[in-house]
Order: sequence, then C-alpha cells, then structure tokens
Amino acid sequence: MITGLSHVSIAVPSLESAAKKLKELYGLTVTEAKVNEEQGVRLACVELPNARIELMEPSRPGSPIAKFLERNPGGGIHHFCLNVDDVAAARVELGRRGARVLGEGRDQRNVHGEHIAFVHPKDFLGALVELEQRAG
Ligand code: CO
Repeated sequence: MITGLSHVSIAVPSLESAAKKLKELYGLTVTEAKVNEEQGVRLACVELPNARIELMEPSRPGSPIAKFLERNPGGGIHHFCLNVDDVAAARVELGRRGARVLGEGRDQRNVHGEHIAFVHPKDFLGALVELEQRAG
C-alpha cells in the first residue's frame, strides 16, 4: 500500500522569509508559490532527490493553516506525506482496519492534480499523515 515518503510539510507565517532562511542557512532553493484555494494555502517546495519539503502559508484567514499558526505562531511541522499506489483503495482498506481517513470519502486533489487523503493523527502515532497517489 505504502510506496515511499513524498514530503514533509511545514506551516510558515511567511513563505518569502522561510525561503530566504533556507537559502541562507542551507543553500536550498524554494520553488515558486502556488495557491490552493480549496485548502486556503499558498504552497512552495524544496525538491530533494528522494523527497520534498513543502512550505505552507495561509492564503486566507480561517483556513486550516491559519488556525494551525494561531496555535503555533512561529510555524512548525504540520504533516508528512506517504506515497501510496492507490488512494481510493488505501482509503477503503484503512477504514476497514479501523483508521480514520478524513474528508468523508470525498476525492481530494493537491496542486499537482494528484489524488490525496489525510489520516487522523490518532491513527498514526500522533502525526497527521497525507496519502498521495503519484499522477500518471
Ligand atoms: Co502535503
């Protein structure tokens, strides 16, 4: 079911200052930001050979990331993401095993058009997990 690690996602108050810091300290380059209106997030990434680091800034007040930053004003790790071969099948199988897959069975897509789902933190050792199915 699980085929690899896709990314770790960090909520930040400002994408621009986060990108500047990662460049200065680590020499990392952050991609151009994209907005996901549905999730209320402005998103940019650092592409690494085996995974990526996602940076998320709220695109509107009241979005889940805005609320996360209210609780964690300096930002912090929000979720990590595992690749799965088939999100719909994983959703059914995990539900059968008693894990809570969020979103009530609704098909969700990320900014790249890939199928995703989230599993409740209580069903992954306290960490919010995104499941992502590679496009194509
Ligand atoms: Co993610």
